[in-house]
Amino acid sequence: MIDLSPQMQQAINNQISYEGYASNFYLALAYWCDDQALEGCKKFFIRQSDEERFHMLKLYEYMSESGVLPITPAIAQPPINYTSIQEAFQKVFEQERSVTLSIHNLLKLAQDENDYNTQHFLQWYVDEQREEEAVIRTIMDRIKVIGEGGQSLYYIDKEVEKINLQVVAAEAMEKGE
Ligand code: FEO
Repeated sequence: MIDLSPQMQQAINNQISYEGYASNFYLALAYWCDDQALEGCKKFFIRQSDEERFHMLKLYEYMSESGVLPITPAIAQPPINYTSIQEAFQKVFEQERSVTLSIHNLLKLAQDENDYNTQHFLQWYVDEQREEEAVIRTIMDRIKVIGEGGQSLYYIDKEVEKINLQVVAAEAMEKGE
């Protein structure tokens, strides 16, 4: 059994809520892309939504292992509409930055409390956030290179689909599949 301070329990519960929101945020975005006939982007965001759910479930398990009953949060309504794919990826970047910040704050709390188990547990999230931000930055850079000409949406969608397959392959390698 792992000891979690009441403050840490609250902070991990908050993180459950952020990851749950992120999962729904990406799900809504996937179906906005579907509506815009951006099938490659839809696949990217469906996978991302599943990943965020996995991030959330890992927190549930960590609390459960600690003998604490996790609180399942109400989830706020995410945006359902965007003016462009450029705006959508800008919002994605902001979303990931805010999760990174909350993970870093959680880690700081674990350090302040000399909670070594939680520090160790959170390292996975620190790495995951760094990787996710790098992928989003790559997509935003490619979108800039492609520009906003007549066929640009077609090429952006193909590029995001390609990057999605690279992420899937990298994850499979990490898991040793
Ligand atoms: Fe789990 Fe991308 O935040």
